[in-house]
Amino acid sequence: MVAGLEIEPGEQALDVAAGTGSITRRLQRAGARVVSVDQSAAMLAAATGRGAIAVRAGGERLPFADGAFDVVTFGYLLRYVDDLPAALRELARVLRPGGRMGMVEFGRPTGVSWAPWWLYTRVGLRLAGLAVGGGWREVGRFLGANIDAFAATWPPHRLVEAWREAGLEDVRAARPSLGGGLVMWGRRL
Ligand SMILES: C[S@@+](CC[C@H](N)C(=O)[O-])C[C@H]1O[C@@H](n2cnc3c(N)ncnc32)[C@H](O)[C@@H]1O
Repeated sequence: MVAGLEIEPGEQALDVAAGTGSITRRLQRAGARVVSVDQSAAMLAAATGRGAIAVRAGGERLPFADGAFDVVTFGYLLRYVDDLPAALRELARVLRPGGRMGMVEFGRPTGVSWAPWWLYTRVGLRLAGLAVGGGWREVGRFLGANIDAFAATWPPHRLVEAWREAGLEDVRAARPSLGGGLVMWGRRL
């Protein structure tokens, strides 16, 4: 996803739902100056140890001016927002005209890949969660069904449409990992 954003050294990037910073670090390695946003202070502490600026906020209400960033990214955010079109409008709002947006999300495979994916998410993840214990039990129980519900409501073609309605053009999507991943890019009008 970061490679597809074609980042120029010194560009200002905003990584929303930064979590422990896997996307933040890739943006930095590509030469961007990064502001990392997450609703969780504990996650942010891990994300920003390496020089990014940390801001605790929800992706639905970003404390930044219109057009403040050259690049906006978000990974594994949209399954957690109540109003997806409104969240996309807010993410696009802080992007300058011509700025680029990138997203990573889980996908739901179709065709022959669907059955192994279903077994992996419904049985494999559940067993792994039980084996690791702690909060991972809940993750193992929750994740597969959550991805399924999201993909049913927001299949890739609907997401592409929602991005366009939020003010993005040249919207494109890729479905890596046999459809188990979804990567999207777009450019602010
Ligand atoms: C699975 S982590 C993703 C981490 C990171 N983007 C990555 O790709 O490694 C999801 C993160 O989203 C954050 N999050 C969930 N809902 C959010 C919201 N509405 N606004 C901001 N952050 C949110 C959580 O706190 C968590 O850190």
